[in-house]
Amino acid sequence: MKKNNIVLVGGGSTWTPGILKAMTTHLDAFALNRVVLYDIDEKRQEVIGEFAKILFKEEAPEVELVYTTDKEVAYKDVDFVFCQMRTGGFDMREKDEKIPLSLGVIGQETCGPGGFAYGLRSIKDMIEMVKDVRRLSPDAWILNYTNPAAIVSLALDKIFPKENKILNICDQPVNLLRSYSKLIDHDVNKLEPVYFGLNHFGWFTQIYDETGKDRAPELKEIILKGGFRPVDAEQRDQSWLDTYAMVEDMLTDFPDYLPNTYLQYYLYPEYKLSTSDPKRTRTDEVRAGREKNVFAECRRIVENGTARDSKVVHNDAHGDMMVEVAASIANNLRKTFIVMVRNDGIVSNLPDDSMVEVNASLGSNGPAPYAVGKIDTFYKGLIENQYAFEKLTVEAYMEESYGKALQALTLNRTIGDAKKARKVLDALIEANAEYWPELK
Ligand code: G6P
Ligand code: MN
Repeated sequence: MKKNNIVLVGGGSTWTPGILKAMTTHLDAFALNRVVLYDIDEKRQEVIGEFAKILFKEEAPEVELVYTTDKEVAYKDVDFVFCQMRTGGFDMREKDEKIPLSLGVIGQETCGPGGFAYGLRSIKDMIEMVKDVRRLSPDAWILNYTNPAAIVSLALDKIFPKENKILNICDQPVNLLRSYSKLIDHDVNKLEPVYFGLNHFGWFTQIYDETGKDRAPELKEIILKGGFRPVDAEQRDQSWLDTYAMVEDMLTDFPDYLPNTYLQYYLYPEYKLSTSDPKRTRTDEVRAGREKNVFAECRRIVENGTARDSKVVHNDAHGDMMVEVAASIANNLRKTFIVMVRNDGIVSNLPDDSMVEVNASLGSNGPAPYAVGKIDTFYKGLIENQYAFEKLTVEAYMEESYGKALQALTLNRTIGDAKKARKVLDALIEANAEYWPELK
């Protein structure tokens, strides 16, 4: 089996330890030669990088582990780029969440105006990353998890239309599947979901087990009777528990399919707004929780010189999925994953150039998506509205257009009012001055 060279972009992220751990436990499926951690934030990178050295020395001593803040080192001679950058860091995430809330609309990292602001920041750095990778590693696969993935994937598809080695993927469908598997006490690896939509905007239509039986009806019944909690509830903050609980509400109103949790913001914007605190958002929770714990734990491990007793470095769904996706491509395994691809007729009554999130078999030639066919009016209407928002957001970036930005935000279901949209847009322009193109 070929041994791969990997670069993890956003190497100083709180998600990195889990991904690295997953790399060390999947070596038989995805062989490694070298892993480079790359981040522009030297301080964060150093803490996680020093931890990584210990982890790899203990679990995978034959693999070279390097960390760097130099992109020339990072992108040289790699087979896979794992990309999870956050332009502007948590300081800007906080603004994405709090500025809209202070003006009476939902503030969320990837949805509504928060996702719009983050999207305009991400696109620029993602374009730079793709160009740098192509200059230094023309054949590398780029696996992208950078948010807001819906907007990023659409922008990359428009800007690099000939690229066939960029794959955008999100872990939320897998997270949900793990939680469903617990509800029916069934091995998650034996469940085969069918899914359609846009990123953070989709539905499971069926959940087949290994006998071919669709378990979705049973799952809906269980959730409608007893609510829904994530499989790893004891590790979750309150806002995630609230988010999963909203699935029951969504199923009560729209019982056809099992919804992605992110739909709560689009279906119940008023309720979500009324229960949000503009002074304390998800960023505060992450800073007080995951951020603090992961960095403290990495420092502790470095001090002790061993990671063997560490709980923080557990195998989470996110890391496993990223490595399994890479393995399926590297070794042409043709396993099925839920990924983002250009529609081109997959959902036959949605625009060809939308980036849909659907099932695909994944091998060395990339994703081969499965057909979905026509979707019903309610879903089509919701998706077309959201897709128009995403497309206008990308065009606002590419054309540096204030008018298109205003159209995008006006269309978004979390705002739905042009005067509000203008107020939010103007405030976000001010806050993002050093990141966005100047919108004229
Ligand atoms: C899910 C989504 C990711 C998102 C993450 C946010 O996993 O699929 O796209 O980044 O949640 O989690 P956080 O704990 O940072 O709010
Ligand atoms: Mn996601």
